[in-house]
Amino acid sequence: MSSLFNQSLVSASQLDQGLLSQIFTLASHYKRKVAEQGVLDILSDKLMASLFFEPSTRTRLSFESAMQRLGGRVIGFSDASTTSLAKGETLEDTIKMVMQYTDLIVMRHPQKGAAQRAVEVSSVPILNAGDGDGEHPTQACLDAYTIFEQKHSLQGLKVAFVGDLKFGRTVHSLCQILNQYNSELFFVSPKTLGMPEWILQKLDSSRYSQTESLEEVISEVDVLYMTRIQKERFKSEDEYKKYKGVYIINRDAITKMKSDSILMHPLPRVDEIDPEVDTDSRAMYFEQAKNGMYVRMALLTMVFGKA
Ligand code: NCD
Repeated sequence: MSSLFNQSLVSASQLDQGLLSQIFTLASHYKRKVAEQGVLDILSDKLMASLFFEPSTRTRLSFESAMQRLGGRVIGFSDASTTSLAKGETLEDTIKMVMQYTDLIVMRHPQKGAAQRAVEVSSVPILNAGDGDGEHPTQACLDAYTIFEQKHSLQGLKVAFVGDLKFGRTVHSLCQILNQYNSELFFVSPKTLGMPEWILQKLDSSRYSQTESLEEVISEVDVLYMTRIQKERFKSEDEYKKYKGVYIINRDAITKMKSDSILMHPLPRVDEIDPEVDTDSRAMYFEQAKNGMYVRMALLTMVFGKA
């Protein structure tokens, strides 16, 4: 795809290097513009729906603030129990309704594939803000942008993804982006929480490896991307407890990282990163969260053809 104009974004596989470089340039532009002007007047004729069927802090607030910083308007919900879903309405019917009211729909949903289902019935673009244990492409854009800002290129980086790679949708999306830039990927997880086959199949098999040992890779990588064990996707609390706390970065562990490497996390964190390392110059997770708004401003203007 060479343009996002009027397009839905369901998977990071839709984003090629040309689009990513446009997103990065625009995000930097909006970072400057917001600092200068606060609110811009680019999407004042547009209304966005923000449909969150699953909890969110950063993604929802950064999408909504992105739209409002562009002068656009927002409607939506963050608690699906207050909507007709509670009366048994299908996702398809909800979308067919909301598309009559708005120009674009941002949607998070607990089921993998929900964003694609929405696309199939929608006359307006759908932006996937996380579909169960599927993908989270806009998070991957802000992660890639943060890496680009810090390392000045995505080309040939060594990147370790650590934690719950089975259920973690942010890593499913980001590794597809990095795969385009000849990165060397290390998937670090307990065997049962490894990267799923449907993602591995999309990657260049000579450029990734899988291990259970963080120790093996920590001193080698340019980017260490930690993730939360996705409690809500386990069948039982006991099952979840087996994995909780399996990988932790604290003051001791961070000393093993290269001095010019970066430590990332999509947030929320549970215990994977000890707050004692937050002040380390390699810690980039709050920077990622901040970049979320600018990257989403870039995506919104591209989809509306106003970039
Ligand atoms: C992530 C998500 O929702 O997938 N959060 C986010 O959007 N920044 C990561 C997570 O919940 O662990």
